[in-house]
Parts: sequence; C-alpha cells; structure tokens
Amino acid sequence: MLDQATRLREIAEKNCSRNSAMKPHIITVASGKGGVGKSTVALNLALRLAELGSTSLLLDADENLGNIDVMAGISPKLRLGDILRGEKDIEDVIMPVTKNFSILPGNSGEREYPLMTLEKQKELLNDIADLDRHYDYLVIDTSAGIGEDIINFAVRSHETLVITSPEPTAIMDAYALIKMVTLADEFVPLKVVINTARTPAEADDAAMKLQTAVNHFLKKHLHYLGSIPYDISVTRAVTRQSPVLKEFPLCGASLSMNMLAGRIAEQAAHLKTRRVRIA
Ligand SMILES: Nc1ncnc2c1ncn2[C@@H]1O[C@H](COP(=O)(O)OP(=O)(O)OP(=O)(O)O)[C@@H](O)[C@H]1O
Ligand SMILES: [Mg+2]
Repeated sequence: MLDQATRLREIAEKNCSRNSAMKPHIITVASGKGGVGKSTVALNLALRLAELGSTSLLLDADENLGNIDVMAGISPKLRLGDILRGEKDIEDVIMPVTKNFSILPGNSGEREYPLMTLEKQKELLNDIADLDRHYDYLVIDTSAGIGEDIINFAVRSHETLVITSPEPTAIMDAYALIKMVTLADEFVPLKVVINTARTPAEADDAAMKLQTAVNHFLKKHLHYLGSIPYDISVTRAVTRQSPVLKEFPLCGASLSMNMLAGRIAEQAAHLKTRRVRIA
C-alpha cells in the first residue's frame, strides 16, 4: 500500500504538468489582521508543495515589511523593489533554496519603495508565468490589512488562503478582508485556516463563526481548509531562521501544515480551471 506522502506526491505530479506553457497555480496568503501567521503558512506551504514533488516559488509581497528571507535564513542581494523599479529582471532576483523551491525576496524599510500598482502587479505576475523556469505553484505572502494590492492579488489567484487566529478581533478582520475580496470578485475561491488554536474545538468554533457570517451577510461559501495548533516550535524555528517544517518536522504545527499542503495539492487540479485575471 502506498503511504500518504507517496500518494500526495503522485497527485501533485499528475496535477502539475511540466509543460512550460502552463501557468503556475497561484495561491495568495492574506489575513486582515497582522501577526496571525501569514508568512509562517506561506513559507512552509511553499516548501511542502516542493517536497511533494512540485516546483514552487514564494513571492514575498509584504509591502516594504518583508521578512521571508530572515525566516528562511537567506541573504538576498536583490529584492522585489529592484524588479518594480525596472532595474532588474525577475530571473536575477529569484533565489533558489532547494531544487524545487525558490524565493523572490521582498523589501523591508526601504525609503523609496515603489508602489505595487495594479499595472506593476499584472506585469509581475505575467512575467513570472512566462519565465523559462516553470513553477507549478506561486505562493504570495502579503501584508497585513485590506489594501488594494492585497485584494488585487486575491482576485488574480486561483485561491486565497485567509489566515486568522481564533481571537474575535482577528476573525473580524478576516471577515473584512473576505468582504473586500468578494466585492471585487464574488467567485474568488477562499479557504480559511485557523492558526494558533489552543484546541481543535477552539479552531472549529472560530471557523464556524466566520463561515456563518460570510454565508449570512455575503451569501458566499467559505471553505474551512483546517487549523494549525499554537506550537512553540514555530517561534523556535524563526529564531533559528529556518522553516519549522525543516527544523521540527514532527511537531504539531508542522504536521498540520503538511496536511493543509496535501489538501491544497489534492484540490489544485480542480481550481486550476478557474480563469485568473492576470492580464
Ligand atoms: N502556530 C503557531 N504557533 C506559535 N507561534 C506562531 C504560530 N504561527 C505563527 N506564530 C508566531 O507568530 C508570529 C507572527 O507570525 P508571522 O510572521 O507568520 O505572521 P504574519 O501574519 O506574517 O505577520 P505580519 O502581518 O506582520 O506579516 C511569529 O512570531 C511566529 O513565530
Ligand atoms: Mg508576514
């Protein structure tokens, strides 16, 4: 009998043709409230999808507060801002981390950081899709808030992961984000992930509250992808500047993120039929 990892790898390989003409499956990771785990989920999700046999690119699109490079322990010389200013090509900026996993690093605290206008965003996504090196997945880590650039990324994705903690304030902000995205495009597939849950019941309860509000007020279905427990290993991994999946592969948070990545890989083929508005 095939073990689960082998089965998921087979599904991921089947879903993701190596045909370079194929566009990447785009996943935006957003939250509304800050500090709820977007970067943690984006980094470990992109890494796990690569471990499952796909190629993945993680784009740090956190507007001028990017920290994926610190979390992944890489020291980029070039960053997203260099591309947005038109000074560097994407190929020069992307940093390979493993055979299948690369990072496009973001900027942090740069004085004259260029605005991510809609035009620039479309160009960036088109250029990534047209790269000679094909990526099966493009995972986009975004800033906190409900800024226009975040909504635009969501609208141009095959799916958007809404990360929230179980706290009512975080759930309120996740709802505000979902509302803004839905107003921009009612068909954007949205999946909620409850992070830093103290118990599975707490996570399920938080997800249900958000699902009920979205269903009632926005008349939209919100898919509950799953939850990640509060786990001190996550903070320890940040201190080591390495993804928790690598440092503590068997901790609760890593096992949950593996499960979420597996579910995403399983569902990706279906969502790929969604026509994304890149151009
Ligand atoms: N499951 C978890 N268990 C324990 N700590 C966690 C967990 N997930 C995230 N954290 C911690 O929470 C903090 C915020 O995480 P992270 O940077 O991923 O959030 P974020 O949403 O990207 O923040 P920002 O809005 O500032 O970009 C970090 O210190 C991280 O280590
Ligand atoms: Mg972040």
